[in-house]
Amino acid sequence: MTAATKICEYQPGLEGIPATKSSISYVDGTKGIIEYRGIPLEQLAKKSSFLETAYLLIWGQLPNETQLEEFATEVRFHRRIKYRIRDMMKCFPETGHPMDALQTSAAALGLFYSRRALDDPEYIRKAVVRLIAKIPTMVAAFHQMHLGHDPIQPHDSLDYAANFLYMLTEKRPHALEAKIFDVCLTLHAEHTINTSTFSAMVTASTLTDPYAVVASAVGTLAGPLHGGANEEVLSMLEEIGLIDNVLPYVEECIAHKKKIMGFGHRVYKVKDPRAKILQELAQQLLNEKGCDKYYDLALELEKVVEDKLGVKGIYPNVDFYSGLVYRKLGIPRKLFTPIFAIARVAGWLAHWKEQLAVNRIFRPTQVYTGEHNAPYIPMAER
Ligand code: CMC
Repeated sequence: MTAATKICEYQPGLEGIPATKSSISYVDGTKGIIEYRGIPLEQLAKKSSFLETAYLLIWGQLPNETQLEEFATEVRFHRRIKYRIRDMMKCFPETGHPMDALQTSAAALGLFYSRRALDDPEYIRKAVVRLIAKIPTMVAAFHQMHLGHDPIQPHDSLDYAANFLYMLTEKRPHALEAKIFDVCLTLHAEHTINTSTFSAMVTASTLTDPYAVVASAVGTLAGPLHGGANEEVLSMLEEIGLIDNVLPYVEECIAHKKKIMGFGHRVYKVKDPRAKILQELAQQLLNEKGCDKYYDLALELEKVVEDKLGVKGIYPNVDFYSGLVYRKLGIPRKLFTPIFAIARVAGWLAHWKEQLAVNRIFRPTQVYTGEHNAPYIPMAER
């Protein structure tokens, strides 16, 4: 029996079909467990930084002090983007979505660093560093251009998370804000074979360059059923407006089979462990900065959805509380999904490397449902 005949039942959305063997992350969706390289994410969120976590994901083990210092220094060194990329971005319509700008700019990096040498560890290392370093700068640069301003250059004295917040406002963020933002990046860095990672792996399997791999993943992440949901959560809370409207809103969604944004997950049938941590972070920010009516609405919405849809395993996912945290950090809504990309690039690159090590091009099959031997109808008769 060939591989093609072994699996003959079509599974919409490839649900439950393993796409690869991987040792990068692990999720148990019924127990609410997520681990990166075997380490519980809660531990990393408490004790690690985003760059240390990215190193762990990509290179397979926690760095020692020297390795982390070298990695962080190299990332810092490569943060700036070429003026020609900035000039190219200036030609984008300012009203365009930043995810489209990011996808185009990530792909454009391939024009500047075009030598494709996938068997050269130094090429791989440099590509990893460049992508992790430059993606936040490109997101922040397009944001400034959208506001009609010149991009703010990276600040050499600021670490990864603080520097991104700085590039949005030209103000040094408060230490708590930078820390919370760094934890958000860690929480979003990797999540097994999610849709954008799968997209990255499929692209990687053709042995194209890593910039094309990341660009295809960014395009996939942008959709409202994936990374785009965090933006939609805030729009939904705005639409609901008042606590009294929560129950009728949920009932209306259920009656019309409309998805409630920030809820449900292909893998988790309990509350997403990342949502729990993000909720705690939102609470910390509220304690520091004062209350937020959308947080109260979110709590009520969670209660009502759990009551109505908990039996189906519909609970808050990672996107439900992240928007509330970003809002409290003063980050504009259009940047929520690009921030997801800034973090997830670590996971995409880890899977790119893993794919290269055992590569076989992805080429699934299909269940053909069309006709055979159909007649060609001349134009005049159609
Ligand atoms: N609101 C209401 N009902 C839902 C929801 C929701 N958010 N999610 C799933 N359901 C119901 C759905 O109607 C279906 O019910 P039934 O069996 O009676 O027809 C059942 O649950 C299964 O839903 P599905 O759409 O077949 O599940 P899926 O595994 O294909 O989709 C999902 C998973 C995340 C795309 C989906 O839950 C969804 O669209 N959620 C809203 C968008 C969202 O928050 N996306 C972020 C996902 S997490 C981060 C990420 O991956 O980027």
